[in-house]
Amino acid sequence: MTFKKKMLCIGAGYVGGPTMAMIAHKCPQYKVTVVDINPKRIAQWNSGELPIYEPGLDEIVKATRGVNLFFSTEIEKEIRECHIIFVSVNTPTKTFGAGAGMAADLQYWEKTARQILRNAESDKIIVEKSTLPVKTALAMERILTSGNNNIHFDVLSNPEFLAEGTAIKDLKDPDRVLIGSRRSPEGLRARDELVEIYANWVPSDRILTSNIWSCELSKLVSNAFLAQKISSINAISALCEKADADVTEVSRAVGMDNRLGSRFLNASVGFGGSCFKKDILNLVYLCQYYGLNEVADYWKAVVSINDYQKERFVLNMMNAMFNTLAGKRICLFGFAFKANTGDTRESPAIFISKRLLEERAQLIITDPKALDNAKFDLEGLEGAISYIEDPYEAATGCDAIAVMTEWDVYPKLDFKKIYDSMTKPAFVFDGRNILPHKRLFETGFNVFPVGKPPMTHF
Ligand code: NAD
Ligand code: UGA
Repeated sequence: MTFKKKMLCIGAGYVGGPTMAMIAHKCPQYKVTVVDINPKRIAQWNSGELPIYEPGLDEIVKATRGVNLFFSTEIEKEIRECHIIFVSVNTPTKTFGAGAGMAADLQYWEKTARQILRNAESDKIIVEKSTLPVKTALAMERILTSGNNNIHFDVLSNPEFLAEGTAIKDLKDPDRVLIGSRRSPEGLRARDELVEIYANWVPSDRILTSNIWSCELSKLVSNAFLAQKISSINAISALCEKADADVTEVSRAVGMDNRLGSRFLNASVGFGGSCFKKDILNLVYLCQYYGLNEVADYWKAVVSINDYQKERFVLNMMNAMFNTLAGKRICLFGFAFKANTGDTRESPAIFISKRLLEERAQLIITDPKALDNAKFDLEGLEGAISYIEDPYEAATGCDAIAVMTEWDVYPKLDFKKIYDSMTKPAFVFDGRNILPHKRLFETGFNVFPVGKPPMTHF
């Protein structure tokens, strides 16, 4: 079959895989190849068991794989053959040298740029999909123009806004697609080519074009604003607990103001995920780099409140359970950083587990999709940890349940059965405010939600 265009994505992760599967699904006229340096990941994408869990992803991959969607490890060959390259490699927080713990580690990004330069034999459009510090496109352009060949590269920024657990829905029906380009005739031509791809399914009023630096910065700012909303309500949850107010009532009242919006106002044990903390710290580093220390401090507080909220959760548990957790059996309901994903990167459950183990509690962890990742995250830690998929079995003999993830199976469980199987007094600490608190209290539990008055029998 001959295809109208050949496009490549470097990086077959949570973004590269689903994004390219959606493009292939919506654009049968294009050949889409996804490559990765990790052969195991590529083998999984080519198998019956995909490397990531996302509702709706299996169906799309099965329908397009081998037709116009391909997963491969032949990076160099694919670079030579394609016309457009999306780069979706990881950009974690730097752990060494200048900016350690804050700045983005761009080594994977730069390696990719050099690999493209070494192997390209014709003009190409390079699309930044990864989340990057502002002005990265300039560095990319400088590397790509450092060769002695006559190949022309146009670098575009096209950040991804999908959220895990809803990736397919977000990709199918995005709030907006953002494309940043140079204002030169070549830059605008390249931009129009990318617009044309998205126009296959995204309405034109949702395809936003902009200056390339605004585009790169908008991605960091979007994540910072979303996380800021959560930290704001989490800060208020601490006040609600002192003032006998109910944070759900407060967030409903606040969120009904259209200027503020009701989403991302669910108080919780803290936000997790591979990006919020990383991207805010990256923003903080950029502000510091430009000498904007007050601005940096403002955004840093979003991360500090999140750390505070996680620590507060543990201290509340300890306080409620007679100031000692040593030897107590605590069942964590959920380990993923949010529902409908097996991803545990930066999950608050990791911090809570470490702190509970420090307090010498015994942990029993249950999660429908994330137990393998949980085992990996907690490997080598001292203390008693068991992993049990069935929540009833997991809670049996425990002193307390702590809800870490808002899986929708949890509120539907038979809590009378669970209560009967637990050590008394039995406690529930609902880090997501998803359980039927009144019913649990009437069953006999001592219930500690986030940002609401506790319900106790003593
Ligand atoms: P990931 O770790 O799941 O995937 C990145 C992949 O890139 C890995 O499989 C890795 O092996 C591969 N890789 C690294 N260097 C490579 C190289 N030189 N050649 C080929 N492959 C290489 O990461 P992710 O979650 O998909 O995130 C990727 C980027 O997208 C990050 O910048 C992230 O901030 C951003 N982002 C992530 C999400 C999300 O929900 N996870 C959403 C929006 C944006
Ligand atoms: C987030 C953004 O929502 C995406 O737009 C962005 O593309 C992505 O980061 C990224 O750049 O990686 P994601 O981290 O997958 O997506 O998931 P979210 O739904 O944003 O949730 C993040 C964390 O905040 C989760 O731990 C979630 O449980 C928590 N959260 C969310 C709350 O505690 N309260 C809320 O009201 C909402």
